[in-house]
Amino acid sequence: MKAPRSIETARLILRRPEHGDASEIFERYASDPVVTRYLSWPAHRSVDDTRAFLEFSDAEWELWPAGPYLVCGRFDGAVLGGTGLAFETSHRASTGYVLAADKWDRGYATEALRAIVGIASGVGVHRLYALCHPEHRASSRVLEKQAFQLEGTLPRCMEFPNLAVGVPADVLCYASILVP
Ligand SMILES: CC(C)(COP(=O)(O)OP(=O)(O)OC[C@H]1O[C@@H](n2cnc3c(N)ncnc32)[C@H](O)[C@@H]1OP(=O)(O)O)[C@@H](O)C(=O)NCCC(=O)NCCS
Repeated sequence: MKAPRSIETARLILRRPEHGDASEIFERYASDPVVTRYLSWPAHRSVDDTRAFLEFSDAEWELWPAGPYLVCGRFDGAVLGGTGLAFETSHRASTGYVLAADKWDRGYATEALRAIVGIASGVGVHRLYALCHPEHRASSRVLEKQAFQLEGTLPRCMEFPNLAVGVPADVLCYASILVP
């Protein structure tokens, strides 16, 4: 079963990325060192990095029920950020979210995560989880507001390439069990 390519919330459209989105993604958030500080992927250095992400996105959508989504303004269609589902099995996926810095603190990440939970539930995900840096309170707060449970700290679990290359850091693991 495939997830919808596009869904609407009160203020947002979440939609599958397309190849024509490369420059907007690059300029709005993927190349910004402040925005990408706590992300698991290196900030994009050129639009070719963004094109590589779009190839990856297509491959994920081909293989799994869903993949990355862009977060866009519902009324003007502008790219505000990204989110999505990264499937590990047909029942387990992780999620994350990123917004352009001038769109923070408006509740958009919370609104996007609520939609992602609905999409995950609709395509049979039982366990949806997210990892976040222990110092990243805004990200933890978004997960807590959507009733994700803090399961614990995973020691030396993952690298944050924009903070320290080659050094695995502790991460907080939050999860939502969609089918108990
Ligand atoms: C993390 C991020 C997605 C949050 O997006 P957002 O749209 O601003 O989030 P929301 O407005 O939905 O909610 C943020 C919550 O965190 C709170 N918050 C923000 N900064 C905070 C801080 N420094 N300490 C504690 N809480 C904080 C806000 O007050 C809000 O909670 P509230 O609704 O109870 O007031 C955004 O900051 C971002 O894109 N950051 C860069 C990318 C990133 O780090 N992504 C997460 C990777 S795990």
